[in-house]
Amino acid sequence: MSLTLLLHPLDGPVDGRPGCGHSFRGRFKEDLSSPGPCATPSTIHSVLLTLREYRQTDFETLWRIDQQCFEPGIAYSQRELMAYVRLRGSFTLVSMLATEGIQSAQHPETPPQAADEGKIVGFLVAHTNRSGLGHIITVDVLPQARRLGVGSKLLQVAEDRLQAMNCRSVVLETAVNNAPALAFYKRHQYLVVRTAPGYYANGLDALVLEKDLLSTSRAG
Ligand SMILES: CC(C)(COP(=O)(O)OP(=O)(O)OC[C@H]1O[C@@H](n2cnc3c(N)ncnc32)[C@H](O)[C@@H]1OP(=O)(O)O)[C@@H](O)C(=O)NCCC(=O)NCCS
Repeated sequence: MSLTLLLHPLDGPVDGRPGCGHSFRGRFKEDLSSPGPCATPSTIHSVLLTLREYRQTDFETLWRIDQQCFEPGIAYSQRELMAYVRLRGSFTLVSMLATEGIQSAQHPETPPQAADEGKIVGFLVAHTNRSGLGHIITVDVLPQARRLGVGSKLLQVAEDRLQAMNCRSVVLETAVNNAPALAFYKRHQYLVVRTAPGYYANGLDALVLEKDLLSTSRAG
């Protein structure tokens, strides 16, 4: 079944304590252009978006998502991504989309999917060093799952965790021409602090952004 975003979700509080599972709800509409055996045109489905810790078995999927999110020269090789995921002081959060409680009218005997059987739609890798500086290494959301709040939830939970790890501020780099990412980080109160010329392998400059975790409030 193919799902298409219908409405912006985020109608539930998310607990930002380290090590917790997090869930929030969204609403999708079945893609009418590809009706499958379970498709009911105009049916609105409730979906559950969950955040969980990275598992080793996720790696290939995360790398493929990264390949979809970034152009060659910016996307990570498998070796690079693996190095960041395994870096001492780093953590990786994974966002899953699972249809919840959906029972087809044609096949009512089919049990609803369990929340953890869903599809990975995004992930975030972050790192902290001993001097109290957090670093968002990457935030990746599948194109078809964007503007749902997935990136925001990953970022909020990561910032909460970095704060709990005694980080005072968090930095990240993004390509100068990545307008969606710049709008996203501006929404989350990141400020451009400098340019990093030729930062990426393809020669593109990066902007370095920073957020003071002690003085800023959370944007939704
Ligand atoms: C940047 C990215 C992570 C945002 O993820 P997302 O799940 O779509 O973001 P959210 O739904 O939480 O967006 C929150 C807010 O950010 C801003 N925003 C996000 N995408 C935007 C876009 N394409 N254009 C303008 N503003 C945008 C909006 O203010 C948005 O709120 P709204 O939808 O209520 O208007 C996603 O676009 C992505 O994965 N891009 C490719 C990889 C990348 O560039 N990562 C960041 C650099 S490391």
